[in-house]
Amino acid sequence: MLSPAKLNLFLAVTGRRADGYHDLVSVVAQVDWGDDLTVEPIGPGEKTTLVCDDPAVPGGDDNLVLRAAAAAGAGQGRRFRLAKRIPMGAGLGGGSSNAAAALKLLGAADATLAATLGSDCPLFLGPGPVVMRGRGERISPLPAAAAQRIAGRRVAILKPSFGISTPWAYRQMAAAAPESYLEPQAAEARLSEWLDDPFLPLERLLYNNMERAAFLKFPALPALLDRLRRLGVAAGMTGSGSACFALLPGPDPALESRVGALAKEAWGPATLCVFCALRA
Ligand code: C5P
Repeated sequence: MLSPAKLNLFLAVTGRRADGYHDLVSVVAQVDWGDDLTVEPIGPGEKTTLVCDDPAVPGGDDNLVLRAAAAAGAGQGRRFRLAKRIPMGAGLGGGSSNAAAALKLLGAADATLAATLGSDCPLFLGPGPVVMRGRGERISPLPAAAAQRIAGRRVAILKPSFGISTPWAYRQMAAAAPESYLEPQAAEARLSEWLDDPFLPLERLLYNNMERAAFLKFPALPALLDRLRRLGVAAGMTGSGSACFALLPGPDPALESRVGALAKEAWGPATLCVFCALRA
């Protein structure tokens, strides 16, 4: 089963909550690229395990696939296999996506259960683009006219060799409060403006107020985004980074190789460049 990556096309962190998490308003779309997770039965008394082709993925009980299995009452009798392609520390939601895929494979795709596994987990339960609120547990599908401006859109996902820790990124938001946050009413107004005007292209939705802290520490991020914009494509960071993305006008091999070359020039040869599409 495809365990896709996500992109935050719009991300407004609106403030810190009493429980230490942050409230946000975000438009999130999955892409048609990601990890592959499968499950097979093993002896009924045997502990559920995870086999992953990437040794960097922690395989212990705190792995999100095994935590999802335990939460779904399948702590025994299963062997999961994970082909890992989504990098960690990228803001692409890899771990949460794996947890949601595990719940789906076990027939336990429950939103409340998903929210206990990670703030980004519930958004992966359905395939389509959503608006995410609260700390991520409040999910609503996008109105059809808005979803149409997202579905099938070609994107480039670009990830430098370094990652950004999500807790670090949120700590920077809290340290720079209140300027780092967008007021909830302002976030909703900004989102409504795009939702309510069917003639505004997807390019006009892009917003992410977690960029500021990431860009201060890693100037290579805005350096590439500026170059992409000079090429005429809209671009931004996803989630807490470090991955960025560019919206491409359509399948265009020449443009894609130019985008890939710019990314490797700016961030080095180890840069991950993936060309894929936003899911409907
Ligand atoms: O929920 P998850 O485990 O993905 O969150 C990782 C960390 O990111 C949390 O411990 C918290 O520090 C921060 N976070 C937050 N507000 C959110 C989501 C995550 O502060 N809405």
